[in-house]
Parts: sequence; structure tokens; C-alpha cells
Amino acid sequence: MMQNILTFTVTIFILLGPEMSLYSQSMSAQEIELRIDQLIEKMTIDDKIGQMNQRNGADGREDAVRKGLIGSILNEADTDKINAIQRIAVEESRLGIPVLIGRDVIHGFRTIFPIPLGLAATWNPELVKKGARISAVEAASVGIRWTFGPMMDVSRDARWGRIAESFGEDHYLTSEMSVAMVQGFQTDDLSRPDAIAACAKHYVGYGAAEGGRDYNTTYIPEGLMREVYLKPFQASVNAGVATIMSGFHEINGIPATGNTFLLKNVLRDEWNFDGFVVSDWASITEMIPHGFCADEKDAALKAINAGVDMEMASDAYQKFIKQLLAENKITMDMIDASVRSILRVKFKLALFENPYTDPSKFPAIANPENLECARESAVQSIVMLKNDKQVLPLSKDVKRIAVIGPLADDPFEQLGTWSFDKNIDDTQTPLQALREFIGETAKIDYVKTLETSRTKSTDEFGKAIEAVKNSDVALLFLGEEAILSGEAHCRAEINLPGAQEQLIEEIHKIGKPTVLVVMAGRPLTIGSVLDKVDAVLYAFHPGTMGGPAIVDLLFGIESPSGKLPVTFPKMVGQIPIYYNHKNTGRPPRADSWVHIDNIPVRVWQTSLGNESHYLDAGYTPLFPFGFGLSYTQFKYSNLKLSSKKIKLGDKITISATIKNAGDVEADEIVQLYIRDLVGDRTRPVKELKGFQRIRLQPGEEKSVAFEISTDDLSFYNQKMELVTEPGLFHVWIAGDSDSGLRGEFEVVE
Ligand code: NOJ
Repeated sequence: MMQNILTFTVTIFILLGPEMSLYSQSMSAQEIELRIDQLIEKMTIDDKIGQMNQRNGADGREDAVRKGLIGSILNEADTDKINAIQRIAVEESRLGIPVLIGRDVIHGFRTIFPIPLGLAATWNPELVKKGARISAVEAASVGIRWTFGPMMDVSRDARWGRIAESFGEDHYLTSEMSVAMVQGFQTDDLSRPDAIAACAKHYVGYGAAEGGRDYNTTYIPEGLMREVYLKPFQASVNAGVATIMSGFHEINGIPATGNTFLLKNVLRDEWNFDGFVVSDWASITEMIPHGFCADEKDAALKAINAGVDMEMASDAYQKFIKQLLAENKITMDMIDASVRSILRVKFKLALFENPYTDPSKFPAIANPENLECARESAVQSIVMLKNDKQVLPLSKDVKRIAVIGPLADDPFEQLGTWSFDKNIDDTQTPLQALREFIGETAKIDYVKTLETSRTKSTDEFGKAIEAVKNSDVALLFLGEEAILSGEAHCRAEINLPGAQEQLIEEIHKIGKPTVLVVMAGRPLTIGSVLDKVDAVLYAFHPGTMGGPAIVDLLFGIESPSGKLPVTFPKMVGQIPIYYNHKNTGRPPRADSWVHIDNIPVRVWQTSLGNESHYLDAGYTPLFPFGFGLSYTQFKYSNLKLSSKKIKLGDKITISATIKNAGDVEADEIVQLYIRDLVGDRTRPVKELKGFQRIRLQPGEEKSVAFEISTDDLSFYNQKMELVTEPGLFHVWIAGDSDSGLRGEFEVVE
């Protein structure tokens, strides 16, 4: 076994309450490098290749681990198996290098938080960080020290199933959320036994897959790549993310996993990333069907050349690295660089000092505090899209409630995609929460009506209609099951599937106040049913505590405060549609657009105006990015700029007064947008540059200020230089991306 020849700084951390103290054994960067040097000296080529090899599951791996042939294992969450395999690695292998155990802890381990798209709708990085901390402690308590998250692929296509795992369409919001998650998972000291290494994925541009088809082709010019898709990764590297995962897709003809420019030039040379890069699942050997590599050997060569340090699931490295070395196609320095990066993370995690896990030293998983955070996250993630005649909040005196729909009482589906380690017994559904809240004071008539969200049979409609007729209010819990979003679960139609739209139409005919609660992994095209319900709460997949969170909002215990992290299209043909688009030479205008139904027959072609819009869908979305209603009204006034002109290198403060003009206490998410009117490369019509979640009492007003520097206004010019150009800027302080108070300032040299 490797002898520990250095002395360590041992710090005692009191974690999560006085009953638990764990030891952090952080080493200085210098000590770590020294230990890596000493270890590498002793390693054979097989030992090195072993570190670069990640296998699925611990079962049957004992022998390979004993021989030092496996560096990491994924998808093992059984503490006994993890400790057993770790014991073999540390006590029975020649060099005693511990195995790194990785798992997809995406929006919770056992306590499931809203899906990442829902988390983004909270616009609350502090809360997201707290949730990630809880997830890390729960995961670490069973022996998992590495998560494959956060996913930070900017997603502008709701057909793509993995939009559920994303933080939406905007790179600024995505960056803030990603950094918060990285910090929550890792803390600032990875050596704490309850810290887990994060993984920024999927590097990079995976969300731009053509037509929203998973694993597909992307074309991303360098300017767009640098200004949008790379941004969250860059922010995460700056925040110290330990690992990066490459992607399945190709970018401009080069697979992400063999992309030297992105993995080497940008990630290592420009950003000085010192963690390690793991491939995605078999994405090294998938470079063969991509048509980029001739065979597995070629794939291993191209991946290692590009800078992929660890291979997930496939075994091209294991089979061919030695041969490639013997043929001088790669060098030992290249292999050492990868091994160094992997060992660095293992040392930072203090895996050598603390290889084993004792769950009794950790707080209980899914404990009340964790569940409370999940509830708070769900409350803040739910977006109210409509509330006509103030149907919501419901009166506590309501006497008869009809609860309809396949998602009203389904403890599995509300958890959403990627929730491997859930226990559905923890889940609190809306129906359960409603029963608990209402007690005996009202009659609840529950009719599931449709077996799943995809059910086409209308056989149970009669019962639902009866229940609604006998009620004071109908609550409809519809949407998508968890399996309809996530990896490889893309949809070409993104409407409410099955007979759900029909159900809404039938219930609408009864004329009772109707509230639609949507649970889904993506924006759905709910435009066609919007005028058939009085209120809509969009809950995404809200997680373990989704039920109580929804009930809190339905009854006004809290006011809805989530805001959309993604533009909602009216119809699927509008995709891609996002708020920070370009203006075009012929921007659309309301007064020149004629709906397809109103176009006179055989009119002269140019009489209708020649602007960038659809004849049928127009040019506006169903709901804009940043949108969300509240039980109160917020009035924006008094926009102030600290100066009308700022010099390059200086800062400007933009402020406005926000008043709660209603009669309930509520949170508002105040957003700052800018527009650079002229650029060496054209600039988007709006760009989010800041946001703040504030809480206001009825009648209270607050001045909200944002400070930005001219660096925050920079972009990549035609030469791909990062520049801020002098000129005129518009600025908005707003409640969403389509409204607000507008001012302007000039940047001067
Ligand atoms: C494939 C997915 O693309 C990736 O996000 C995930 O982390 C790995 N599988 C491991 O499960």
C-alpha cells in the first residue's frame, strides 16, 4: 500500500449540526503535486491505463481493481459494495490507489428536487446551491464522491428531451445556476468527506442538436460558441469544477469527444483547467459510427489526442493505449498528463486518506430539513402563467374540489428524469398534500380519468365530468410522464399527449372554475387549451415535495414567484425561439403582420409587408423568457443610471424602484437586460446581465440596483477577440424579457 509520507493539515469541520463532525484533510496544491510525482514514478503503463478506465457497476470488478486496472466505477450506490471494492483497491492493489465512485446525482439523490429546468425557474442560485449541498451529503453518505452534473448545455429547443436537465435557453442564467450547483456539490474544500466532485457536462454545445434530436449534429460558429455555449463551462472552470464530460454529438463535423480545439486549446490552454475530462458513455467508440474514426484504435488515438483523460463504459483505451505508445503515435507525457489530472482529483477528494464510508457519520437521508429545502425549491420553481378573474388562490372555505388527471397522485412521475436513487415512498403527491391541508373541511372528489399522460381512451371522462359538475373548482393535474423527457426522449410534437387536451375541452364546457397544473420536462405547447382554463401553474417535474409545494401555491400560503427560464412557443414550428435572438434586417412589426386566415385571395405579393415572421404563428411566443405571474402586482418606476456615458473600463449602476402594489407579501425576480445597438458582429436584441429575487410586503417598495462594468458588455469581434466597443446601449430593468423600463447609455473611449 502507498505510504503516506507527508504530514497533512487536519481540520475538523462541524457539518450539519453538532451531532456530526467529519474530518477534512486538505493538502496544499504543492503537496498534491508532490504526491502525484511520487506515485507516477511507481506506476507501470498498465497502472496508468487503469486510472483512465471507468467501468459500470462494482459487481465482478474485484480482480481488475486488485490488479489496478480500474480507476473509476459508475452506477454503484450500495455502500457495502463500494467499501468492499475500495478495500481491495486500497489494501490489496500494488499501489493502493482508491477508486473514484461516480453517479448521476442530477437533481437530488434520495431527496429529489425539481428537475434542473424547474430549478432554473427559481432564479435563486443560493437555494440551488443549498439543494446541491443536500444532494452531495446524501450521495456521499453512501460512498459516492463524484456526480455527473451539473448539465449546463444551453437549450433552445423544447423538442430535445434533455432540456429537462438544462437550466434553459440563457447562458447567463445557466452560468449562475451551474456555478451554484458546483459550489453546492464541492464546497470550497473537496477533501471534506461530504463533498463530491462536480462534472460540467456535456462539453460543449450538445443542446444545439439539430431538430432537437438527441445525440445529433450541431453547427456552432466560433462566435456563438464562445458567447453562448462555452460561457457556463468557463464560469464553472473559474469556480473550480473538478471534472468535465465531453458529449455524444458532433460540432461542425468534429465529434465533441475528439475535438482538440475545444478540449485542448480552449479548455486547457486558454482556461488552464487542471481537473480531468471523462468521455460520455462510450462516446469514444461512437466516433466510429460518427464517421470520424476507422476503428477502436483510431478512436482511442483521437480521444487521447484531443484530451479525454478517462473513458466511460467502452474500453478502447484499455485495449489500445499500450499499442499506440509502442508505435509512437502517442507519448508517455500525454498519458502522464491524463493520469496526473485524475490523481489530482482523487487527492483533492482525500480519497487516499478517507477511502471508506460510514453512513452513520452522516445525517439521515431525506430528513425533514432536506425535504423542507426540496419543498421550498419546488415552491419557487413553479411558474404561474395565467390567473383570470383571480381564480387563484383558492379560498380555504372551498367545500367541493374535483381533482382530475393522471399526475394528481403519482409519486413516481412527479420526480422527473434522472432520479435513480429516489424512494417513491418519500414522495408527497398533490392529492395527498391536498387531503392533508383540507382535512375534513372540504370534499375532494378524485378521478384519475387517464391511466397515464399518454392514454387515449376517453372511457373515464364521464366520471371526471360528474365530479367537476359537483364541485366548486376543478384542479387538473396534467402534463408529461417522467419518461417523456430526458436522455433520448425527444418529441416532435410537444403538446399535452394522449387525450389530455380533449379532457380539458370537455371540462371547460361545464363552466366551473378550472385550474390547470402542468407537470412536464419541457415547455409544452399549451396554447390551444389556454383559453379553456382559468389559471395555469407550470410545475415542471417538481420532485419529492411537489405536492405540498403546489398546495402552498394553490391556497396562497405562498405567492407564485417562479419565472420561465425558457421561451414557450405557441407551436412547435416556431422552434428555435428564444428571447436573445438577432434583430435581422427586417424585424417583424405588429402592424405589418397579417394572419394566414386574413390574407385576401390573390393579393399582390409585397402588399403584406416583407418581414421576418410566420403567417400562421406570427413572431411572438406564447410566453416570453423571464415571465411569471404573482398574486400581487409589482410596479416598476424610477429607472436611474449613475451616468449617461461611461468610459471603457468603468462601471455603471442601473437602478429602479419596485413596488408591491397588491395586498399579499411576495417575491419578485427583477431582471436586467441590455442591448448593444451596433457591433462588429451583430448583437442580440436583448441580453440578460443580472437578476435579483426580492421580497416585498404589501405596499412596500425597494430600490433595486445593478452594477455592471464595460467588461460585462464584451463580445467576440470578427477576429474572435473579446472586445467592448464604444457606442450606444439600451438597458431595461424588467419583470420579464418582454417588458420593463428602458434607458440608454453610451460607452466612450
Ligand atoms: C450518458 C449521459 O449522456 C450522461 O449525461 C450521463 O452522465 C452518463 N450517461 C452516465 O450515466
